Amino acid sequence: MGLVRLDKLLASQGTASRSDVKKLIYKGQVTVNDVVVKSPNAKVNTDSDVVKLNGEVVGAEEFVYYMMNKPAGVICATQDKHEKTVIDIVPAKYKRKGLFPVGRLDKDTEGLLLITNDGDFAHRVTSPNKEVYKTYYALIDSPISNDDIEAFKNGIVFRDGTRCKQAFLSKVPDNENAVYVKVCEGMFHQVKKMLAVREKQVKYLRRISIGGLKLPDNLDKGNLISLNKLEINNIIFGEIH
Ligand code: URA
Repeated sequence: MGLVRLDKLLASQGTASRSDVKKLIYKGQVTVNDVVVKSPNAKVNTDSDVVKLNGEVVGAEEFVYYMMNKPAGVICATQDKHEKTVIDIVPAKYKRKGLFPVGRLDKDTEGLLLITNDGDFAHRVTSPNKEVYKTYYALIDSPISNDDIEAFKNGIVFRDGTRCKQAFLSKVPDNENAVYVKVCEGMFHQVKKMLAVREKQVKYLRRISIGGLKLPDNLDKGNLISLNKLEINNIIFGEIH
């Protein structure tokens, strides 16, 4: 960001609205390099100055990238009148203006969900043309056959005639009712509908990777961590094969 107004920086981090931020500054609750600054239009250098609100460092990144282990029971939206959303459960210290989930998981689907405020990045990850494959672990009601695997490779065709892009279905060792499904599109209920075409009903669905980024085993349901640059790059360039 470089040089920015103190009130603008604080507001951009979702701390409070610009007018509320000004009040916090006037009250002496904001420091720059441990010196109280009471002027909202003071310029701060986001590369070198340390800005704190009530003693807590305020981040200066324009864009943030998080991965959540989405629990079942919350919806992928920014806000909703009736349902709890994935943005509602983002812990306060990670809250920023403009956060949204990258693509959608159904309410009953669990697993890897990216949350960001970077629209270009989200487009890069979700656009089918960019072919970033997402891997799902699914429990289904009957075992798959080699014909099912071939059908996924050839492109499943929905009842309305929509042809899916090439996808990959494989068996999970030691559980004949479990499969991995790799898809690069994000149509509504895509995995459930693709399996339904092959007469398989999904009982449980969890996303386990996006491109080269895997959901870590130790990230509890509902928890969220910030991604580093390597992990962000891995999503797009580090496809797992
Ligand atoms: N496909 C589905 O059917 N549901 C999801 O939540 C994600 C992919």
